[in-house]
Amino acid sequence: MAILEIRTVPDPVLRQKAAPIAAIDKEIVTIIQDMLETMYTDGIGLAANQVGILKRVIVLDISDSRDGSEALIMVNPTILESSKDTFTYREGCLSVRPVSSDNSSDLFANVTRPRKIRVRYLDQTGKTCEIEAEELLSQCIQHEMDHLDGVLFTDHVSALKRNMIMRKIEKLRRNMSSDKPL
Ligand code: NI
Repeated sequence: MAILEIRTVPDPVLRQKAAPIAAIDKEIVTIIQDMLETMYTDGIGLAANQVGILKRVIVLDISDSRDGSEALIMVNPTILESSKDTFTYREGCLSVRPVSSDNSSDLFANVTRPRKIRVRYLDQTGKTCEIEAEELLSQCIQHEMDHLDGVLFTDHVSALKRNMIMRKIEKLRRNMSSDKPL
């Protein structure tokens, strides 16, 4: 397994649409394992675009244990149903940071999405699965699925808030580069 480099804005791969996976072969299994390992360094979810791979796979784990026993692996996920009632959660993203390892900064924003969804996907063995998810899990799945279509959580907030986040990232990057030893 390997920890993959997480792409951050404005990397164009974050704005591209990932392609469906035709078969879960050895290459896909390796990608999934590497994505899980990469996600466990920090986040509760990761989409393949974020590691520069344009294939429709996401991994998530919203459990406290974070030992892999409750990991969700979704290949080619599709939303079958969304509730009308909504849920709001303060979202952040490993890719919407000056560098993915910087979790100290306040680069989060409230995002409102359907509270409940029903999702169909293939698991890592190729079996078709369906789950109902609500609140945090639903929010997280929708956030990761957005990535597969080149959409970031900042696309769901006001232009004012989006610009604030982008300016903050630029400022943090400027500070980082001036901190470098000569
Ligand atoms: Ni994200």
